[in-house]
Amino acid sequence: MSFKVRKLGSALGAEVIGLDLTQTLDGDTIAALLAAWSEHLILLFRDQSLTPTQQIAFSRYFGELDDHAAIPKFRHAEHPEILMVNNREAATNKRLSVGRQWHSDLSTTLRPAKGSLLHAIQLPMVGGDTMFCNMYRAWDGLSPLLQEWLSGRDAIHDMTIARETQLQRTHAELEEIRLRNPRVYQPICRIHEATGKKALYVSEMTTSQIDGLTREESQPILEYLYRQSTVHENVYRHVWRKGDSVLWDNRCVMHIALADYDDSERRTMHRTTLKGSPSGRLVQAA
Ligand code: SIN
Repeated sequence: MSFKVRKLGSALGAEVIGLDLTQTLDGDTIAALLAAWSEHLILLFRDQSLTPTQQIAFSRYFGELDDHAAIPKFRHAEHPEILMVNNREAATNKRLSVGRQWHSDLSTTLRPAKGSLLHAIQLPMVGGDTMFCNMYRAWDGLSPLLQEWLSGRDAIHDMTIARETQLQRTHAELEEIRLRNPRVYQPICRIHEATGKKALYVSEMTTSQIDGLTREESQPILEYLYRQSTVHENVYRHVWRKGDSVLWDNRCVMHIALADYDDSERRTMHRTTLKGSPSGRLVQAA
């Protein structure tokens, strides 16, 4: 099966044209897709209509799938490999907001996600966009001295510090999340196992502190790193169409779901998450 690739942004992103994701792919096509993914970091497939089973089957070409045990509340009832990324809770219609700060999926676990594939099922009339940034470029843009200081250092990732988690969860729920997801150290500079390139690996949604510094000392450095990661020229903004599927590489890309739409409308997306290699270590309680 052959396809064309069209660049979407100068920092990252490409559209794959001519593939039907419900079809079985041969080895050469899979190899060509993996090469395009490695080069462009995010791949867009337009006009797809995927059942959960089809999305799961396509995602498996890129690796083993996570069952979202770290975030069970949002799992699909019959397919734990599908994470429901909705702005409303199905049973209660309660407002939900997910992914509204820059992050890399599952960085708070010891098996951070390799990639994620998000499929648009239902969209608001306008908005509901997602932005992505290139974390190789974020690393490369730092001065050699700062790169040297950050190399080999770890930072703490904590699921409970996410702004929306803090706002939406009760004290008891936060305790439960904390027990299920103990804090982890992750390297600040991550070496991508497929490309060998260095990527910055800290995020405003989950990183609380640099190992060896206090929170107060860490904060200005982390804030600089977040700003540096998300400068305009390092970002691709995706304006969704129903049937879009976007695959991104969490090892070298951060993303953010924008609240740029009328929240009384529904936004329903299905995400599959690819398991990454083991990374990090648990923070031992003092
Ligand atoms: C996510 O953070 O995985 C979801 C992004 C989105 O809903 O646009």
